[in-house]
Amino acid sequence: MRVLLTGGSGFIGSHTVRMALKEPGISRVVNLDKLTYSGNLENLCDIEDERYRFIHGSINDSELLAETLGNEEIDSIIHLAAESHVDRSIDSVEPFVKTNIDGTRVILECVKDFFNSGKDISLIHVSTDEVYGSLGPDDLAFTEETPISPRNPYAATKAASDMLVQAFSNTFGLKVAITRCSNNYGPNQFPEKLIPLMALNAMEGKGLPIYGDGQQIRDWVHVNDHARGLILTLFGLNNGKIKPGEVINFGADNEKTNLEIVHEIIDLTDAKLEQIEYVRDRPGHDRRYSMGFEKAKRVIGWEPEVSWNMGISNTISWYRENEEWVNSIRTGEYLNWINRQYGG
Ligand code: NAD
Ligand code: TYD
Repeated sequence: MRVLLTGGSGFIGSHTVRMALKEPGISRVVNLDKLTYSGNLENLCDIEDERYRFIHGSINDSELLAETLGNEEIDSIIHLAAESHVDRSIDSVEPFVKTNIDGTRVILECVKDFFNSGKDISLIHVSTDEVYGSLGPDDLAFTEETPISPRNPYAATKAASDMLVQAFSNTFGLKVAITRCSNNYGPNQFPEKLIPLMALNAMEGKGLPIYGDGQQIRDWVHVNDHARGLILTLFGLNNGKIKPGEVINFGADNEKTNLEIVHEIIDLTDAKLEQIEYVRDRPGHDRRYSMGFEKAKRVIGWEPEVSWNMGISNTISWYRENEEWVNSIRTGEYLNWINRQYGG
């Protein structure tokens, strides 16, 4: 397989690039990334594999995309490029519509053009549990049959792109699958998201800003488990175990309240309970996500393998030991965002 990854310099993308390069059945890995604030060349700077190539550019650039698919003889795409942070989507929706919806449309049109000229390219569209909306405390976990009901601008743009992907599969016969994973954690995550933000603030003696009452629940999946799931989905789509247009969910049976997470981070970093600060709640804050993964188990033999205790302690150690990486993302843009969001 010759694989194009979009957004390969981001958090999940960089782990998926590494996982793809471990596969003997993959002979080329091309990473197309615009390097927005969350894309970081440092994430993959140690890769020396000749099968890997980085291209700096946007998924919204249809010419670049067509040229890349053609010149690199790509037969499979894992599409991760996105604006990915809910709080930023509340701040400003436009980049989310442009990248998540229109960028996905550009990819679909390009794949359709290749399909019409006789080249069938498989596409894995990487989506999120957030498209399903929010659960109550006693509700059953989301399944692939749960109706879409996004409740914040980020989730709405991901849901819209999912719908486009399914429409292109149904109308034009493209070979596509959609994956939906719950919250990821692990090394290289941009510290605007809960776990890395809290880990760094805890180690640096800063405040730990909990939105609202901190009783919101997320189902945490280690990024390596998600990356492995994406590769298995690609193989599944190519060998017919997954039919075009199908959805696969990934979860970990690992529901935790935000407050529980912050307490664990305090324990792992020897921070102080007094660092906790209750701040204004996120508008439209989803209360609970929980993802069933019975289909992933049955169809592609995927199960989460990284235990929470091991995963979280390794993640905290990674942030402690990778000061250079942390400094590399602490640019003016990041500091402006943190100041705007948390008031300095
Ligand atoms: P991230 O913000 O760390 O990475 C996004 C990457 O996309 C960055 O490298 C960025 O430079 C790149 N990018 C943005 N706009 C682009 C464009 N127009 N063209 C090319 N590249 C562009 O995000 P992440 O957490 O790694 O998420 C990756 C994907 O996984 C997203 O589609 C997200 O919706 C999905 N997802 C994330 C989670 C999670 O918990 N983080 C869970 C489920 C699904
Ligand atoms: P986040 O990492 O932004 O992921 P998502 O919104 O996609 O679930 O947030 C995870 C949870 O942590 C969410 O309930 C919001 C909460 N949160 C805080 O309480 N404080 C913070 O500073 C951040 C970034 C998130």
